[in-house]
Amino acid sequence: MNVVAGESSFGPGKVIVLGEHGVVYGQPALAGPLSRGVRAWSEPAKRTSLEIPEVLSASQRLALERAFARVAKLTGHPPIAVHLDSDLPPSMGLGSSGALAVAVTRLLLRASGERVSQAQLERVAFEMEKEFHGTPSGVDHTTSARGSLILFRKGKATTLRPRRPVKVLIALAGERASTKQTVLALRERQARWPARYTRLFQSIGAVVRDGAKAAVEGDLEGLGDAMNVNQGLLNALGLSSLALEEMVARLRAAGALGAKLTGAGGDGGAVIGLFREPEPVVMKLRKAGIDCFASQLAGPEAL
Ligand code: MEV
Repeated sequence: MNVVAGESSFGPGKVIVLGEHGVVYGQPALAGPLSRGVRAWSEPAKRTSLEIPEVLSASQRLALERAFARVAKLTGHPPIAVHLDSDLPPSMGLGSSGALAVAVTRLLLRASGERVSQAQLERVAFEMEKEFHGTPSGVDHTTSARGSLILFRKGKATTLRPRRPVKVLIALAGERASTKQTVLALRERQARWPARYTRLFQSIGAVVRDGAKAAVEGDLEGLGDAMNVNQGLLNALGLSSLALEEMVARLRAAGALGAKLTGAGGDGGAVIGLFREPEPVVMKLRKAGIDCFASQLAGPEAL
């Protein structure tokens, strides 16, 4: 086949710095894009198609096929074949499905001949994300589509420009159930004890607002403390585990200004630690066999 050079598009992964789960119940969340993510590229073809990565499980495969069919329909089935490449650990709470949705949606919208507006990209990518997660808040794909630190509340995102760099270390703490399952199990607890759970979600909302203000002002110690308090609240909601708590303790012992689980949590998943300089800690933890990496989420490149 004569392969004509096609288009390519990148969707960054994300970390939720503060506010996961509360955001599903209308509270704000603070989230930023990772340097890692999903790249989608295309070549001209007779009909719209997607090469499904081999590493996916049967259920992930099915979800991706459904999500792709949805976005293909919404963009008028442009004649391209789409391929994917990712350097994000999947199913770890780092927004791989949101990143994929953004990369693929942007590609299909461009191929359908439209000038892609930010609002349109976010709206169509959200339709794709819903196929993966059921009733997502939208924070994952919005963070990926904006590519900046945002304060997100269902239906509204504000870009934040912190005075100092916000740098985190991301460590992986074992496998976890799907986001959909964890969100659903929490929904059942919340329906059973609504007053208690509402109070916890409101406390998360308050800590997100404090932490976002601290981030903008360059008060990294204040942001770190907000992260520690948020971890306590996530634990109270039944979203932490021994593996997650041990990793949080390890990052704090390594000098993190704050550490918490990020994403849906549950049995395992990713933990973030806020560090002024995370790279030396990455080297140290890797030597101890921990799978981790560093990323700058926002702020000027140097102090
Ligand atoms: C998942 O990255 C974040 C959750 O708050 C779910 C959502 O916002 O849809 C757990």
